[in-house]
This record gives sequence, structure tokens and C-alpha cells, in this order.
Amino acid sequence: MTIWTDLGFNQSPYDTKSLPPTAIGERLLVGREKHIQRLINRLASSSSHVTIEGEAGVGKTSLITIANYRMKRNSDKARSPILLPIEKSFQITTQDGVKLLEAAVYRAVAEAFIRYREALQAWGYDTPKVADINKWMNSPIIKNISAGVSVAGVGVSAGRSESLNASTAFAESGLANMVRSWMAECFDPPGCGYFVCVLDNLELLVSSASARQALEEIRDTILAEPGLRWVICGARGVVRTAAASPRLQGRLCHPLEVEPLSMGDAIGALEARIDEFSTGGAPPVGPIGFQYLYEILKCNLRNTLQKCEDFSFWLHDEGVIGAGEMEHVALMQSWMTLLSDEYANNPNISPHGWKLLDDMVGNEGSCDFGDYELFGFSGPDEMKRCAAELEHQNLIEMSPGDTGMDSALVAPNGWLARFSRSGYQIPRS
Ligand SMILES: Nc1ncnc2c1ncn2[C@@H]1O[C@H](COP(=O)(O)OP(=O)(O)OP(=O)(O)O)[C@@H](O)[C@H]1O
Ligand SMILES: [Mg+2]
Repeated sequence: MTIWTDLGFNQSPYDTKSLPPTAIGERLLVGREKHIQRLINRLASSSSHVTIEGEAGVGKTSLITIANYRMKRNSDKARSPILLPIEKSFQITTQDGVKLLEAAVYRAVAEAFIRYREALQAWGYDTPKVADINKWMNSPIIKNISAGVSVAGVGVSAGRSESLNASTAFAESGLANMVRSWMAECFDPPGCGYFVCVLDNLELLVSSASARQALEEIRDTILAEPGLRWVICGARGVVRTAAASPRLQGRLCHPLEVEPLSMGDAIGALEARIDEFSTGGAPPVGPIGFQYLYEILKCNLRNTLQKCEDFSFWLHDEGVIGAGEMEHVALMQSWMTLLSDEYANNPNISPHGWKLLDDMVGNEGSCDFGDYELFGFSGPDEMKRCAAELEHQNLIEMSPGDTGMDSALVAPNGWLARFSRSGYQIPRS
């Protein structure tokens, strides 16, 4: 029994996880047809890898997941080139990650040969023998690496030196060559097919400089593999900056920008979820309440869904079940007023700190520390001190650039504080 059953749903319609690679995920994805088409066109038509840029929580991972789901489903039409997505996505979080990533990628390709074997054979592609793949997968070095690294290439659970040893052993073992030769035999002539790999959340590397360095490091290895096409995805300008590196010129397509869903599409996304999961209940947050939240939270879909869920819990705690949409909207407005007051009354922020937040809001929600004069500061350090106050209270997020901390963005809680500070005015974008 969950609160959702009480509220007339078979699961949360406000789940914040990225959409799954299933028919349901595909039904829930709204407003991204063009992006999917562009993504697939680039993968099929260019030798440069695809890059995707968009703010946190805007829907990048969901879009890629559903594009992959479609590619996989359509691949039985023997389209040329054939695009076979590797299900798990890769991430790089540390320097160890870059080294281990290579091993994780070849391992995932070996697994993909098993997963797609029958389909590949049916279309007339050569595939490696299962016994050879199993032998490769069971070699001590691969087993060692698999134990230390999650398939996604993150979460180095072994100690640093252990994982470094494992990746060095892999590099020296020639094991990559085996997978390379399988790909060369399968996708012959070159370009008749690819495995599609996703490198997600590049912003985890924190600065554009380290993201660029990581991509440069894999430029001549996994990014140069003729049988692999990459989709490289990140937030906060990291991908855009990395793609502009002279060393990566000609390797990466110009980023596909993922913008926030329009209000109409965002409401469509909510309605699709209500249709999918309702067992007859009135949603705690329907289209009117959702629009109200989406505007206050500056069109961040994930944060809006999160607040819908928080509000649903509150409603359930208060025992409000079975009320109509307008009653829910009125309750939500009071709830948001109280919630935003809590953030706006934070005693740890000085008047200068609040002024900086207000000025950032007036500056489209961001600031650059180089513009300290514009924000009324005598120098960048003074501005950074104020920004640090706001950051400690999670009202803004700093984005370290190539030369240290050089910009900041208003965080979801900052938009909430702003809502209260503005006398509960809904921002118009
Ligand atoms: N086009 C869409 N239609 C419906 N729901 C969507 C859409 N895009 C994203 N969502 C939902 O919005 C939330 C955020 O999506 P997702 O995780 O894909 O964003 P993201 O940009 O990858 O975020 P992050 O930057 O944190 O990795 C998820 O709950 C997802 O289900
Ligand atoms: Mg994501």
C-alpha cells in the first residue's frame, strides 16, 4: 500500500527518475520528436560524435534513452547504417574513471555482441563466437575490472591504486584488440553499422577544463573506434566548451541544445503521466497547479515534479483525499507561500547576499564573477564571499570554469526564496 493507491494512482505520477527504455517511457516522453530525429540523423549521417547540452533536469537523459529505445526497435528493419545502442550509459567522474572507462566500454561491447548476436546474424553481419566472447569476459583482468568498476564506468569501488593497476593491466593486455577485431569483422565495410554509446553527465567532472581534458584523453582510443558512435551529454556549458577545444575539432558535432519544455508540452507531460497511472483518482497536482509550480521554478521539469510529489505527501499527511482540483490548487498556493517563506527567512544570509540573489534573478538567474562592478561589488573576491553564503544555503550553484569559480546560477531553492521575496509574484519568462 502506498500513498498513491490512497490517492487513486498505481504509482507516483511525479516520479523524478529519467524515463525508462520501455513503451511506457516512450508514451511519457512529450515534445522531443524533433530532438530524437536530429539525434538519430546525426548518429547515422556523420562521422563526428553527437553532443547534447542542456540544463540540469531538463530531460537530456530521457531523450537519449527513448531515442535509443527507438533505434533498437527499428533496427530490425535493417536500416543502413544499423545503430545498436549499448544499454547502460557511461560516466566519467574521476581521473581513474577515464582510464577505467576504456575497459568498461570494451566490456560493454563484448556484452552487446552477445545481446545482439541473433539479430546481427539475421541481417547477415558476422559475429564473434559466443565461446570466444565468454573466454574474453572470463579472463582474470576483465573479471578484476568488473569487480572494481560498475558497468557504467563510474563508482570506482576498488581502491585507487587497485583500480589503476587493473586499468594498466587491461591497457597492456591487448584485450581491447580482440574486441576491436570483432567490430571490424562485423561492421564490414566500415560504416555499415555501429554500437551507440552514451557518455552522460559530463558536468560531474565539475569544470569545463577537466571535461575537455577527459575527452582529449579518450580522443584517440574509444572516441576513435570505427565501430562506435558516441552521444556525449552534459549540463552547464561543459559540453559546449569541451567541444570547442582545438584538439577535438572535427570529432564532435555542434551540440544539440535541449531547451526546457514549453508550458504546453510540460502540461502535456503531466497529463500523459496522469493518464498512464491514474486508477480514477483526482491528481494531487493537476494542470493548473503544475503550471503554477513550473513557472515559479523557472521551467525546471525535475524540480517541478519533485515539488508535486512533496505536496502530495503533505496532502496525504493532512488527510486531504478526494478533494477537487481547485481545492488542491488553493491548498498548494498556501503550501508554496509557507515553503518559500522558509527559504526567504534564512537567517544565515546577509543583506548583501540577498541583494546578490535578487540581482542574479534580474540577470536571468545567473552571474559571472568578472562582472562584479555590474553587481555593485568592489572586486570579484567580495562578490564570491557573498555568493559563497548563498551557495552554503543551497540557494545558488557555483560553476567552476577554466580559471576557477567564475559563474553561478540560481538553484531551485533560490527560485523559491525569490518567490517569497518578490511578494509571491510568478516570474514570467
Ligand atoms: N520530454 C519529456 N516528457 C516527459 N517527461 C520528461 C521529459 N523529459 C524529462 N522528463 C522527466 O523529467 C525528469 C528529468 O529528466 P532527465 O533525468 O531526463 O533530465 P536530465 O536533463 O538528464 O537531468 P540531469 O541533468 O540531472 O541528468 C524526469 O522525471 C523525466 O522523467
Ligand atoms: Mg541526466
